[in-house]
Amino acid sequence: MKPGPVCTPLISRKEVNRAVARLATELNRDYRGKHPLLIGVLKGCFIFMADLVRLLDFPVEIDFARLSSYGAGTETSGRVKVLYGPRTEVKGRDVIVIEDIIDTGISIDHFLRFLQRKRPISLKLCALVEKPARHRVPVKIDYLGFTVPDKFLVGCGLDWDEKYRNLPDICMLERYE
Ligand code: IMP
Ligand code: MG
Repeated sequence: MKPGPVCTPLISRKEVNRAVARLATELNRDYRGKHPLLIGVLKGCFIFMADLVRLLDFPVEIDFARLSSYGAGTETSGRVKVLYGPRTEVKGRDVIVIEDIIDTGISIDHFLRFLQRKRPISLKLCALVEKPARHRVPVKIDYLGFTVPDKFLVGCGLDWDEKYRNLPDICMLERYE
């Protein structure tokens, strides 16, 4: 039988929870008295966003977007499409985009430009993880959980070929032939 991929824990669920609590504190400070629109980038955001919004103490509105995906590969094609955009009006809103991971930055750069054209009052980015070594376009991450090395990660919403999103820790995926 061919052995499957091996997942090695990199960031524990406890550390993730602490980072999410820190990000919530930063957002609660910056958005006091406001009513921002949080736009989660599916599917990877679903766990991070669910944990985060439950710690926010200002009124929030939630919507989602879906960008073209990697398929079964571990590299972006470099061509990004907004498959499904937020149905909520973005014009005149304080918008916070919630992403699981910023890798090359190409997807989020494309999506932030897409949103900027809709003329929000403000547009900020909140990401759980970034891989700085992999950036191919500059991306300003306003609220960031972790900086990680150039490894393919799964768990806590992150997938490989739609698998492992449910792992509670963030793990490195190592494939064995
Ligand atoms: P980027 O356009 O290269 O920044 O890719 C961003 C998207 O690719 C993320 O939102 C993830 O969905 C996916 N991605 C990038 N790196 C990883 C990873 O290490 N594990 C799982 N998904 C990843
Ligand atoms: Mg994603």
